Amino acid sequence: MARNKVTVIGAGNVGATTAQRIAEAGLADVVLVDIVEGLPQGKGLDLAEAAPIVGHDSRIIGTNDYADTAGSDIVVVTSGLARQPGMSRDDLLAKNAGIVRAVVAQAVDHSPDAILIIVTNPLDVMCHVAMAASGFPRERVLGMAGVLDSARFRTFIAQELGVSVEDTHAFVLGGHGDTMVPLSRYSTVAGVPITELMTPDRVRALEERTAAGGAEVVALLKTGSAFYAPAASTFEMVESILLDRKRVLPCAVLLAGEFGVDGLFVGVPVVLGAGGMERIFEITLTADEQVAFDASAAAVRDVVAKLP
Ligand code: APR
Repeated sequence: MARNKVTVIGAGNVGATTAQRIAEAGLADVVLVDIVEGLPQGKGLDLAEAAPIVGHDSRIIGTNDYADTAGSDIVVVTSGLARQPGMSRDDLLAKNAGIVRAVVAQAVDHSPDAILIIVTNPLDVMCHVAMAASGFPRERVLGMAGVLDSARFRTFIAQELGVSVEDTHAFVLGGHGDTMVPLSRYSTVAGVPITELMTPDRVRALEERTAAGGAEVVALLKTGSAFYAPAASTFEMVESILLDRKRVLPCAVLLAGEFGVDGLFVGVPVVLGAGGMERIFEITLTADEQVAFDASAAAVRDVVAKLP
């Protein structure tokens, strides 16, 4: 049986690191695409030359030609401009919308059955652009944000309580921005809600650090934005789909009435399997949580309205 094929568009920090994870796990053959000539070819060759040492047989190539991406099972979109210090995600809107529209249109021409995973920011809005450019059903257009935001929350919970990250669980819903909704009630250590393990002040502090998690890394890096955790998050989604694991992961999907929201990409827990988004995991929110979720959805709606 042939290996699965994953195309990663954008051979920058997030794209190349995602490609490396997928190839080195032996999960799929990887095609790395970029608009810059030589960049994806160089990184692809470099990654292929690491294979004998790492010990995997995934084929990995870089290209500027979408013909090489034909028949991909998954297309990951990371192409765009990364956020610079002082630049909000929304500043990137017009530029990245044009890039995402163009790359998705070309990619789906060659892979009409693929599942799209969008990583480019502003995330939720880029999902709208990708959905329109692809004409795909909502099951096959997913945004990577909630896995990353939840991983950040888990990191802070584990550090705060001095426990293994593995025993933490966190749920962060809503848009991928300052209005994201960390659900502390459903965030646990070994099944115990963190609200029983920390004071409300500490819970709030960790929630706030999570919501500003991307900006914290940008401020430190100064030239560019986070990529190790975004790549690991994207890998987790790719793996759940290709291995049909049916992981329950928070992803941006087009809501059609779920959580009281219609016609908008917002982060919610979904079941990820071979069919892409196989089910939305609707949970009952408290009145306060619903207010925060609605505010987050409204923030996404405002940016969608600004789409050129
Ligand atoms: N087609 C293909 N590749 C493109 C195009 C295009 N039209 N336009 C830009 N790119 C490529 C760039 O050449 C660059 O190599 O996208 C790559 C982006 O890489 P980086 O600048 O390193 O950005 P990165 O840190 O990987 O972030 C990419 O993911 O997390 C988000 O906010 C982040 O939107 C950003 C994206």
